[in-house]
Amino acid sequence: MVTIGIIGTGWFSGIHANILSEMEGVKVKAICGTSLEKARTFASSYGDMTPYGNLTQMLDCEKLDAVYICVPPFAHGDIESELVARGIPFLVEKPLSVDEEAPSRILDEVRKKPIITSVGYHFRYKNSVDLLRNELRESTLGMATGEWMGSMPEVPWWRNRQTSGGQFIEQTTHLVDLLRYTMGEVKEVYASYANTYVSTQYEGVTVPDVGTVSLKFTNGLIANLSNTCIIPDEQTKIGINYYTNNGVIHLGPDSLELFKNGEKHIMEDVDNPYVLENKAFIHAVRTGDTSGILSTYEDAFKTLKVTVAAQASADSGQVVKVSE
Ligand SMILES: NC(=O)c1ccc[n+]([C@@H]2O[C@H](COP(=O)([O-])OP(=O)(O)OC[C@H]3O[C@@H](n4cnc5c(N)ncnc54)[C@H](O)[C@@H]3O)[C@@H](O)[C@H]2O)c1
Repeated sequence: MVTIGIIGTGWFSGIHANILSEMEGVKVKAICGTSLEKARTFASSYGDMTPYGNLTQMLDCEKLDAVYICVPPFAHGDIESELVARGIPFLVEKPLSVDEEAPSRILDEVRKKPIITSVGYHFRYKNSVDLLRNELRESTLGMATGEWMGSMPEVPWWRNRQTSGGQFIEQTTHLVDLLRYTMGEVKEVYASYANTYVSTQYEGVTVPDVGTVSLKFTNGLIANLSNTCIIPDEQTKIGINYYTNNGVIHLGPDSLELFKNGEKHIMEDVDNPYVLENKAFIHAVRTGDTSGILSTYEDAFKTLKVTVAAQASADSGQVVKVSE
C-alpha cells in the first residue's frame, strides 16, 4: 500500500484526494491544514484520514511514502525543505512560488539529497500534447502565439502579487511550460502589463489584469503569450496556435486542431491528464521508475524562471535574459 499525506485543504487538494481515493493500492492517510479544524472538515468527506494542523506533527506521527503539496504560491519553502530533509517524495502544485528565492534553495537541497519530485504541470500529460509534439517533429515551426483569457479566481490570495505572483506566474505558467515542452528553452522575455479593471471591483488588488509577453528561444524561435482576468468566466479562452510550414496547429484546453492534406482534423483528449499525472507519480514512488514523470522540480524551476523574468521585464520596461 502506498501511503500519502496531503498539505492544504482547498480546492485542488480535493481534486487530488478524489483521484488517489480511486487508485488501487493507494491510501490518503493524513491531511494537514493551516488549522486542525480545517483539516478535520476536509478529512470528514473521506472516512479514514487523520487530520493535522501542523506539518511536523503529521510527519512525526505518520509513516508516509509521499506527500502532495497543494498550497497557494506564497506558502512554499519550509514545507518542501522539511520533506527533502526527511527523504519523502512529493508532488507539488504549480507554480513553485511567487519568485525564485525559496525554490532555488529547495532545488539545491534536492540536488544534494535526491528524492522523487513531480510538479502539477498536467497539460504535459494530455493526449493532444503528445500528438502535438509528434506533429511538430514533422513540420518546420515558425512561431507560436497563446492566450489565457478568463475571469479572476475568487480566492483572496490570488489578487495580491505577494501571495499569488500575478496571473502570468500563477496561471499562464501552464502555457509557458507547454512552450518549453514543445519549443525549447527560453532565452529572453519582454513583457507589458497593466491594471485596467479588477482594482475597481475589489479592495487591495496588486496584480495586473492584462499582459502580453514576447519570448525568444535559444534556438531562434519566437512566441507571444497574452493573458487577462477581466472577462466573464463563460468566455474563457485558453490555447496556443503553432504556425508551421504545414499549417496552423491549435492546441485548445481539451483538443488539438490541425490541417493535413488540406483537411481539418480535430483530436479530442480522451484521458484525464490529472489521473495520468497521479499514476506516473505513484508508480515512481512504488517502483523507483521515474520515467513517467513529465515535470520534475528541476524542470519546473526553469518555467518559474521565465515567468519571474516576465514580471521583472514588466516592472523595468527592459528585455530580461533568462538563459544563454
Ligand atoms: N494544476 C492545476 O490545474 C491547478 C488547478 C488549480 C489550482 N492549482 C494550484 O494548486 C495550489 C492551491 O490552489 P487551490 O485552488 O487549492 O487554493 P485554495 O485557496 O482553494 O486552497 C489552498 C489551501 O492551502 C492552505 N494553506 C495555505 N498555507 C498553508 C500551509 N503553510 N500549510 C498547509 N496549508 C496551507 C489554505 O488554508 C487552503 O486550504 C495553487 O498553487 C494553484 O495554482 C493547480
